[in-house]
Amino acid sequence: MTTIPVLTIDGPSGAGKGTVSRAIARQLGWHYLDSGSIYRSLAIGCLQADLDLNNIEAVCQVAETMQLSFDCGETLQVKLNGQDITPLLGTEQVGNTASIVAAYPAVRALLLQKQKDFQQLPGLVADGRDMGSVVFPDAQFKVYLTASAEERASRRYKQLIEKGIDANLDQITLEIQERDQRDQQRATAPLMIPEGAQVIDSSSLSIQQVIDQVINLVH
Ligand code: C5P
Repeated sequence: MTTIPVLTIDGPSGAGKGTVSRAIARQLGWHYLDSGSIYRSLAIGCLQADLDLNNIEAVCQVAETMQLSFDCGETLQVKLNGQDITPLLGTEQVGNTASIVAAYPAVRALLLQKQKDFQQLPGLVADGRDMGSVVFPDAQFKVYLTASAEERASRRYKQLIEKGIDANLDQITLEIQERDQRDQQRATAPLMIPEGAQVIDSSSLSIQQVIDQVINLVH
């Protein structure tokens, strides 16, 4: 049996995982799984249905029935039940809602196979919170990419301002800290350094320096 190689890149939001993972997948010619976008798509499904997020059964129903399709071209395009939801994926409301529904063990169990299915030849770069610990525990290469909450908030703030979106740095820092706490303290698949992962702190590194370090690991 051939083992299809997997590189997992886990870490808190805003550490640069998405940019780094996409660049590495492109460089290696491997597939790319942005697992956060699966939880974000579920969040959009729940928001569009105007669900009570405390109603676990209703959230599970959306997770079970949603049809997702990913198009990983130059940028990631996601369709939810045929509707292009790409422009909605990056909003703070969707990110925060994703972190609420992602805390339900039943939801995570329902979405597990969808993520495993991405492991295809010639290889996979998987980006998320529990890629190296739960979804691909046998991955050959594991990275935990982090940065201080202040640095991550300031990067996010700059991104928003560049896009012409009004933003408040204190508010973003607070939301990042709250999201970290929720992701780290949940009972199922909490954000943690997976066994065997190499930790990279990107606070004072450029994106290119991080990419180089990860590529070295794979080679
Ligand atoms: O990575 P991203 O910011 O898109 O993820 C949004 C939310 O989805 C995270 O805050 C986290 O709660 C959840 N998530 C998760 N497990 C993953 C990826 C994302 O619980 N593997």
